[in-house]
Amino acid sequence: MSGKYRVVVVGMGKRGLHHAQAFQANGRFEVVGVCDIDPARLDAAAAKFGAEKDSDTARLSTKLKPDVFCFCTLPGLRSEMIKAGIASGAKLIAFEKPVALNTKEGFAVKKLLADSGVKAVVSHQHRYGEHYRKVKEIVASGALGRVHTVYGTASGWMMHMLSHLIDYMRWYNGEAPAEWAMAQAAGTLKFSDLHTSPDYIGGFIQFANGVRGIVECGAGAPDVPEVDYWWRKCRIGAQGTDGFAEVLTGGGWRAVTKTGACSGPGCMNYDLDMPPYIQEMADWLDDDHKVHSCNFESAYAGFEIMMALCRSAAKGGQIAVPLADACDEIAMLKQHVGNGKVLLSSPVNAKEYGQ
Ligand SMILES: NC(=O)c1ccc[n+]([C@@H]2O[C@H](COP(=O)([O-])OP(=O)(O)OC[C@H]3O[C@@H](n4cnc5c(N)ncnc54)[C@H](O)[C@@H]3O)[C@@H](O)[C@H]2O)c1
Repeated sequence: MSGKYRVVVVGMGKRGLHHAQAFQANGRFEVVGVCDIDPARLDAAAAKFGAEKDSDTARLSTKLKPDVFCFCTLPGLRSEMIKAGIASGAKLIAFEKPVALNTKEGFAVKKLLADSGVKAVVSHQHRYGEHYRKVKEIVASGALGRVHTVYGTASGWMMHMLSHLIDYMRWYNGEAPAEWAMAQAAGTLKFSDLHTSPDYIGGFIQFANGVRGIVECGAGAPDVPEVDYWWRKCRIGAQGTDGFAEVLTGGGWRAVTKTGACSGPGCMNYDLDMPPYIQEMADWLDDDHKVHSCNFESAYAGFEIMMALCRSAAKGGQIAVPLADACDEIAMLKQHVGNGKVLLSSPVNAKEYGQ
């Protein structure tokens, strides 16, 4: 296609602006419309991108009929936006993690997309970081021998961070499907956050290729003292019979293999991660065979694991994946996680967890 793909972006907060800027900077896209319910944000964005504006998503997208419908609203809004995107006739819907706050909403999103045939991508854009890619390269090269474990930890709470951790663990594990998950959760402070979460969740994932996943998110997750910026205290990696390789979101990568120890730079950077994420959308729109790395099906597989961990933390036991029925996992957690204060792994978590 020679013309530009026309884009509507909904939600002109932090991530909406990142997306709009990256679309506008890519010669294959043109931001034709912006939407926000906050008038000041809406006016500023419309002026910045020279785009049409409206506070009503359906009205704007029905009028403009974009090729790409992108929404970066908070996690409580999902199926309503997917419906608006499909109704607008968009060929691709781009939206933010997490896929949804529970499987009632997640199942609805999946069905809407499957029935419509519209392509969709979810923003797990850390995949494009040079340090994230280096670890993927080492794992895929076979230098770790037989990979038996993938792991991820983050100090930030679940609805912000777990979607990311699971996505990159799955990536390092060749996107093998999961068979079951089991978890525990503690602490109720972040149930009142818009990214509604227990303060701490930790669990295990059994992947169909025999690899074990170990994940921890929140107040009790181990500190990553090499990284100063609190939100980037994340460590994701793989261990095999011949060594390990891991990425620190804010602190490069390191590996030990049979040939010795090595390490390198890299830090999460929206300015570097967004352009290739956006470019892959153009590639997929141009050619059905060039499926986006952050395609919905892949993100959904991670979402199901996250929800299985929540169900296990609420009810106990192992939860088989794929999940057969829908429920409200956060409501289950609110009911079952005890009221005791979460115990911290490190004083660096005290401020964010109210201690
Ligand atoms: N991928 C990442 O690295 C990353 C990083 C931060 C946040 N996120 C995700 O991005 C999403 C948005 O986060 P954010 O930090 O940009 O939030 P934000 O609060 O800065 O922006 C959200 C915007 O959506 C607008 N909005 C809310 N309801 C709306 C509606 N009905 N119609 C139109 N606009 C509406 C709000 O007014 C606000 O301007 C969340 O799901 C979050 O988890 C992802």
